[in-house]
Amino acid sequence: MLVLGIETTCDETSCAVVQDGRKILSNVISSQIDLQKEFGGVVPELACRRHIEVIVPVLQEALKEAGCTLQDIDRIAVAKGPGLVGALLIGLHFAKTLAFSLDIPLVPINHIEAHLYAAVMSHETPTFPALGVVLSGGHTSLIGMDNIGAYTLLGETVDDAIGESFDKVAKMLSLPYPGGPYIEKMALTGNPERFSFKAGRVKANPLDFSFSGIKTSVLYTIRDLPKPLSEQDICDISASFQEAVFSDVIKKMHLVLKETPYPCIYLGGGVTHNKKLREHLAKSLNIPFYLPRNDLCLDNAAMIAGLGFHKAPHAGYDLDPETRIPFHRNKSTG
Ligand code: KG4
Ligand code: ZN
Repeated sequence: MLVLGIETTCDETSCAVVQDGRKILSNVISSQIDLQKEFGGVVPELACRRHIEVIVPVLQEALKEAGCTLQDIDRIAVAKGPGLVGALLIGLHFAKTLAFSLDIPLVPINHIEAHLYAAVMSHETPTFPALGVVLSGGHTSLIGMDNIGAYTLLGETVDDAIGESFDKVAKMLSLPYPGGPYIEKMALTGNPERFSFKAGRVKANPLDFSFSGIKTSVLYTIRDLPKPLSEQDICDISASFQEAVFSDVIKKMHLVLKETPYPCIYLGGGVTHNKKLREHLAKSLNIPFYLPRNDLCLDNAAMIAGLGFHKAPHAGYDLDPETRIPFHRNKSTG
């Protein structure tokens, strides 16, 4: 089965063709980083305009790379959220129009679930149950995965998402957007022990995350240092911040595993691109953990098309964007 995936949740426009949920025939991503960098974050209106401009050429390139035409496509999978409402609308309308005119099924996909599926599809023989860990710009979640589509939310952030905290700290250090890769780079020559930052504890649920306090500690640290900050100060703050955030994620993963000994772990989302995180995981986990292929960590349509193979199509075309799609603390179908 050939699935065409469409992704426009935030500032990447992507189309992909995936065969039988695994074999990626094409995965074309048009990033808006050049456009949004100037503003230090995503300006929704600009994101929407860029999606409109590039979505047709991105589709054409994805079909060309896959060596097929629209007539070869069996179904269309589209990210229905969470994301920016205007950006989602463009992908959804585009997908609906294509599905209607080709008279093929339309499958709505939860972008967060797709980030986890990126790790599942990157490995030969997926196994369940598993612990799912989403570390992205908009989400930080620990999810019990009984199977594809059968999830239990175990913990999530009560304030900033992990990628968001990287982006905000980077901004305070006058590093470019998106901040994650720059913090990672500066941290390479930094001393992670110079500053003792700590992620917050959430009393109500020890598996929940809180990253807003650590952001404030970084702010106060910067305030109290002589200006302008030296290159070494920036490197040390980056390394200390990154260390604190990653040890918190790993500590919480161990808390889950103590309670429920999941046999393996799937991780997904932009922050999983980080090599220091990967080193920490390799050192501290003694069960298999699966990361997405490098090209599937950040937002992409291959993960949307791949998951679309497993999901039931939507009846009709009355699909609206969902800016928030909560996972549930009891078992849910995603
Ligand atoms: O998953 P993603 O592409 O978008 C969302 O669904 O949110 O993640 C984007 C986030 C950004 O916050 C970015 O700073 C972060 O992932 N990121 C990283 C790295 N590369 C991207 N964070 C830490 N280290 C990286 N190497
Ligand atoms: Zn994402």
